[in-house]
Amino acid sequence: MLLSKIIEALWFILPAYVANSIAIDVSGLPVLRNYSTPIDFGKSYKGRRILGDGKTWRGFICGILGGTIAGFIMGRFQSNITFYLPEMNIVLGFMLGTGAMIGDLFGSFVKRRMGYGRGANVPLLDMFDYVLGAFLFAAVVTDVNKIYLLIIIIVTIPFHIIANYVAYTLKLKKNPW
Ligand code: CTP
Ligand code: MG
Repeated sequence: MLLSKIIEALWFILPAYVANSIAIDVSGLPVLRNYSTPIDFGKSYKGRRILGDGKTWRGFICGILGGTIAGFIMGRFQSNITFYLPEMNIVLGFMLGTGAMIGDLFGSFVKRRMGYGRGANVPLLDMFDYVLGAFLFAAVVTDVNKIYLLIIIIVTIPFHIIANYVAYTLKLKKNPW
């Protein structure tokens, strides 16, 4: 059934979504606000930043941790349910989270090379860099279902728009959560 396939696909990619959201959300946490060292350490290449100030070690590390913890919790939860969901565990969570963060860096790298500054909206690239990175990394440790990839590519479009809107609204309220 299509609905159950969609749920399975969302379950599979959830640690990547978590990683991406955490990387953004922690930037608003007062205790972490000062830890904003950029991954490229402010360095430029041919007059343009390698990655830019929007890609910090804080976001990268917290994102990977978030994905890993999500994978762990999901694996525990899964052992208590009776319906089918693709297997999740801490290792897969780590790979999905790391893939998401590396994909996100790659997206920013491409944006900078194209001449777009930090925060510029490049719809398809912004939406899919982390999802594709996550699938690529997950493929190292598991047999990735191609149907999941197709479903996620479709549902990520509305998901991305909604998530961005929510984050924007929360920032307006000066409340990162
Ligand atoms: N963020 C971070 N570290 C990361 C990813 C994200 O600190 N590795 C934080 C930054 O504060 C960033 C915000 O989350 O500005 C939003 O993330 P994103 O949209 O990915 O970055 P942009 O600022 O849009 O930068 P870019 O143009 O490079 O995508
Ligand atoms: Mg952005």
